[in-house]
Amino acid sequence: PPPAKLQRALLRWYDAEKRDLPWRGTKDPYSIWLSEVMLQQTRVDTVRPYYQRFMETYPTVFALAEAPLERVLGDWSGLGYYRRARMLHAGAQQIVRDFGGELPREVEALRSITGIGPYTAGAVASIAFDVRAPLVDGNVARVLARIFGVEEDVRGGAGRARIWQIAESILPQERAGDFNQALMELGATVCSPSSPRCGPCPVRGMCVAFASGEPERLPNMAPK
Ligand code: ADE
Repeated sequence: PPPAKLQRALLRWYDAEKRDLPWRGTKDPYSIWLSEVMLQQTRVDTVRPYYQRFMETYPTVFALAEAPLERVLGDWSGLGYYRRARMLHAGAQQIVRDFGGELPREVEALRSITGIGPYTAGAVASIAFDVRAPLVDGNVARVLARIFGVEEDVRGGAGRARIWQIAESILPQERAGDFNQALMELGATVCSPSSPRCGPCPVRGMCVAFASGEPERLPNMAPK
C-alpha cells in the first residue's frame, strides 16, 4: 500500500484505540527506555506495577546509576530475565559517564550503550525524540509480513532484512514514535498470531494476507 494511506489509517486507529499505559504519557527518554526494556520479554499487565515502582525508586538515570546493583536486582525480582536489569544498570552508568546523564537522540549513539540493541534504539529515538527510526519486534514483524505479503521467514537472513527495510520505508515524517507504537499495538490487540481479528482491523483493505483469505498463514514460520 502507499505509505501515506497506511500512515493515515494506522495513526487514526491508534488515536482512537490505544491502550492507556503509564509510559504513554511521557516523552522522557529514560522512562521510555525503562518501559521498553521491561516490555521486551514480559507482558504489559505484569510490567505496569514494576514500571511504576521503578520510576518511584529510580526516577532518573542518575538515581539508577548510583544505586547498588543488588538493590536494582531485588526490585526487578519477579520480572525475570535478570540480565536485562544488569544491562539497564550498566547502561545507566554509561549514560552518566559518556552522555552527562542524558540519553542521546541518534540511533547510532544509542546503540553504543550497553544493552541497547536495534529494537530499543529505534524505540527510544522514535518514541522519545520523534526521530524517523524504524523498530521491529515480533508483533511488528508479523503485522508487516501480513500487510506486505512477505513470504520469507522473518526470523533471520533475507526475511528479517526485508522487514526492517519495509519498517523504515513506511515511517511518516511526523509522529514516527506513534506510528511505531501503532504497529506494535495492532500486533498486540488485533493482528494476533493464530486468529487475527480482521473485522476491526484499520488496514485490512490494504493487507495482502487478508486478501488471501488465510491471514494466519503469514508470517511464514517454517521449522528452521
Ligand atoms: N510493546 C513493547 N513496547 C510497546 C509499545 N510502546 N507500545 C505497544 N506495545 C509495545
